[in-house]
Amino acid sequence: MTANTIAINQQMDKFDGHHSVWLFGYGSLIYKADFPYLQRRAASIDGWTRRFWQGSHDHRGTPEAPGRVVTLIEEAGAICHGMAYLITPDVFAHLDHREKNGYLRLAIPMTFDDGDSVDGLAYIATPDNTAFLGAASEQEIAAHIARATGPSGPNSDYLNHLAHALRELGRHDRHVFEIERHLAALQSK
Ligand code: SIN
Repeated sequence: MTANTIAINQQMDKFDGHHSVWLFGYGSLIYKADFPYLQRRAASIDGWTRRFWQGSHDHRGTPEAPGRVVTLIEEAGAICHGMAYLITPDVFAHLDHREKNGYLRLAIPMTFDDGDSVDGLAYIATPDNTAFLGAASEQEIAAHIARATGPSGPNSDYLNHLAHALRELGRHDRHVFEIERHLAALQSK
């Protein structure tokens, strides 16, 4: 699949006719809400885990030297915590552009912290997109992040902001916190 997903996402008609849609954010969408929203609520999704397996050609790296950013990987029994935003459909033009490097809108049920559930959307980068990098050890991922930088800034800022935002939500994510630990060790050398 092409790395630019804007045209594919514009054809997504699942929520056509709705006045508002819940968007689930699990990466930079947790800590950088650069779009208008009607409500914001901590939420989680079942059966998915957050992994730094997606390459970033346009934000935290370049096509020649991609950074590493998060995507969702299916895993039975896993729970991924993040932030949900109630948005109006006009906001998708901005989001499709921001997430264009491999992410597709996927319809997904999410659960708020008070137990209520709704159907909404998340942007997911699947293994068939050309920017996908796949699995590596947390130590290797930290070393990769340490040297990557792109138009949105150093890749390490993405990781550190995400780790900070998860702590503020009171959520532990072993994968993210292990990479953060390895990165801090590398940077203190
Ligand atoms: C998300 O945050 O939900 C998608 C991945 C990203 O933009 O970092």
